Amino acid sequence: MGADLQDALYKNPEAPIADRVDDLLARMSLEEKLGQMMQLPAIDEGYETYIEKYHLGSYLHALGDTIVQLRRRNAEKSRLGIPLIFGIDAIHGHCFEDGSTVFPTQLATACSWNTELFGRIGEITAQEAYGAGLDWTFSPVLCMARDPRWGRTGETFGEDSFLIGEYAGALAAGYEGAGVPFAACAKHFAAYGEAEGGRDSTDVHVSERNMRTVFLPPFKKVLDAGCKTLMVGYQSLNGIPCSANTWLLNDLLREEWRYQGVVVTDWNNCGQMVNLQSAASDIEQAVELCLEASNDVFMNTPEFFDCAVALVRSGKVTEERINQSVRRILHLKFSLGLFEAELQRDKAEHWQPERWQVSEEASRQSITLVKNDGTLPLVANRLNKVLVVGDNAKNLVNQLGDWAFLANKVNNVDHRTVVVTLEQALRERSVRGGYRLDYLGADYCGPLNNEAPNRFAIEEAARDVDAIVFCAGDDLTQYGEYHDRANLSLPGNQSAVFDLLVETGKPIVTVMIMSKPHTIGWVLEKSAAVMIAFNPGPFGGSAIADCLFGDVNPAGRLPISFPVTVGQLPVFYNQAPGWHAQLSPKYDKTDHYVDAPPESLLAFGEGMSYSSIVYGDAQIMASKAANACSLKVNIKNTSARAAVEVVQLYARWCIPGVTSPVKNLIAFKRIELQADTGFDVEFELNASDFVVLDRRLHWQQYTGGLVLLVGSSSRDRDLQVLHWQFS
Ligand code: NOJ
Repeated sequence: MGADLQDALYKNPEAPIADRVDDLLARMSLEEKLGQMMQLPAIDEGYETYIEKYHLGSYLHALGDTIVQLRRRNAEKSRLGIPLIFGIDAIHGHCFEDGSTVFPTQLATACSWNTELFGRIGEITAQEAYGAGLDWTFSPVLCMARDPRWGRTGETFGEDSFLIGEYAGALAAGYEGAGVPFAACAKHFAAYGEAEGGRDSTDVHVSERNMRTVFLPPFKKVLDAGCKTLMVGYQSLNGIPCSANTWLLNDLLREEWRYQGVVVTDWNNCGQMVNLQSAASDIEQAVELCLEASNDVFMNTPEFFDCAVALVRSGKVTEERINQSVRRILHLKFSLGLFEAELQRDKAEHWQPERWQVSEEASRQSITLVKNDGTLPLVANRLNKVLVVGDNAKNLVNQLGDWAFLANKVNNVDHRTVVVTLEQALRERSVRGGYRLDYLGADYCGPLNNEAPNRFAIEEAARDVDAIVFCAGDDLTQYGEYHDRANLSLPGNQSAVFDLLVETGKPIVTVMIMSKPHTIGWVLEKSAAVMIAFNPGPFGGSAIADCLFGDVNPAGRLPISFPVTVGQLPVFYNQAPGWHAQLSPKYDKTDHYVDAPPESLLAFGEGMSYSSIVYGDAQIMASKAANACSLKVNIKNTSARAAVEVVQLYARWCIPGVTSPVKNLIAFKRIELQADTGFDVEFELNASDFVVLDRRLHWQQYTGGLVLLVGSSSRDRDLQVLHWQFS
């Protein structure tokens, strides 16, 4: 960098960011501008040379000393001293770095119904990733998981738009409000989870009404709150690749929503328009189309550089269009203080071991009990022998889930010495509790074991046991990007082993360590108790054991419905009802296949504890504020054990000429109740909060009747129904 630049306005940290951006932009060559619009992986051969070759603005997937080396190289080579920005997929903690805190997956923590917890997770992740040299995480994931065949279901907060918005808002605020300069990224814009048949990144067909009422609100909420960046999905939306979708990115995002943050494509969205989607005849055309839509940063499309130079030189793309993106990118870099930052950060200052306790708390809050015939909680001194069965009780990789390991390096367990598996936790307890514990692991039962079960070994092991803990689920190789499943039954020999366990007649406590819902109807029916843990994080084993023995009263609630069978999909709770011929003798007042039950196997919002929580009669009355009401319901913990109850409020409205879902979650409260105490839970509802999309796709203040449903899950039988009229 030339000495004459030391006095340049853009170098002055006191100057307003907008002035610094203008000053710097005016000094940049076209090539330097285009380099800012590129993000390339720091894993390719020769990745460091991208700095000179492309005047590169950003790397992803860089870790450790590589970051410092790249920052140094860039400081030497960048004519104008424009800093690099480093992005990473720290989506449930900065899981790739030894010593940093790993949390349960997004879906697992979503069972907590605790938004504050997500805020704290965001802060810790930001502080640790920042300390490790990173500036930007590609999180939160706002995709909606309404088809669990989709391999990325576990990366989501579940199936509900409102709940996703609440969680994502808290997580993004945590990242960006952690006291260190750090950027969040709301992804994948938009409706990526609606991939046809759950097949990752296939075309998505969603009406504008559904986009605006279901898929876009969580994004709007997070972006309005200031989230600095947004990632565009791989897939097409109604036939147009999202990165080239001018309706989505220009008309809606930039014009209507006035979003000024940085938009990054997903991994080579641009190239795949040519290679796979057949949406551009060559890469230059793809780049042109993506520039027409308002993408700012092109992730892993190295051809972008030459194509964009050619497009600007030929006049097909204006330099002003390039300037628009570069302004946004420079603004981000200035706002993160990157121009003033040290090349190396002090890791120690940002990494504190006590943060692992937050992870442990997240594991505890995420465990969801969905059945208990009284077998749980286990009482150690009443046990002589317990048999634990299943690979996932001891499989560290499956316990942590996706994005916890560097690609292809799942054996790199350096910083995972803290992990406590279920087998380990139960073994430790057996020593303390004086009972014997036997374990039949991967050689006998597991998602990757396709051998016929060893009947003899199972019968022998189950002899004389007081209880069997059956730990089932899926394996990391069976989910994640491009790892969708057509069949959601338990993989490998787990179902066959379960049948043999049932034959023993011993009480079976099933624990599901899995990325997403499976069709576990038979397991649910034949188990004495069932706990859903999803990928419960490093302390998942001890958290589950704490719940099994009642040291922790389970409090999780499912953020996603489980189907009875795959053919029953979709089973998300807030569907619109169909029209049925009430006059037909065959009509039985429910909406279902003739060969599958009407209800999901496990419902959104469902979960139980060891306490009994009694709901009083809910009441609704006008509030002092105009056109507002307050809904009150008393909940009472009638047991001798402290508990957590998640009181859920759903609503149904009637918009003239529009079909409405049977119910939508509109509020919830997570209440801690001491033993034998009651609490009045109150929800305030203002007419102004109810803005609905009318028949002509205009937002309108809602007037009219409201059906309110309050209770402990989305199931009708768990809800009380009240009515209110807004004028
Ligand atoms: C592709 C994934 O779809 C996205 O979620 C991720 O952030 C990027 N790759 C970067 O790793």
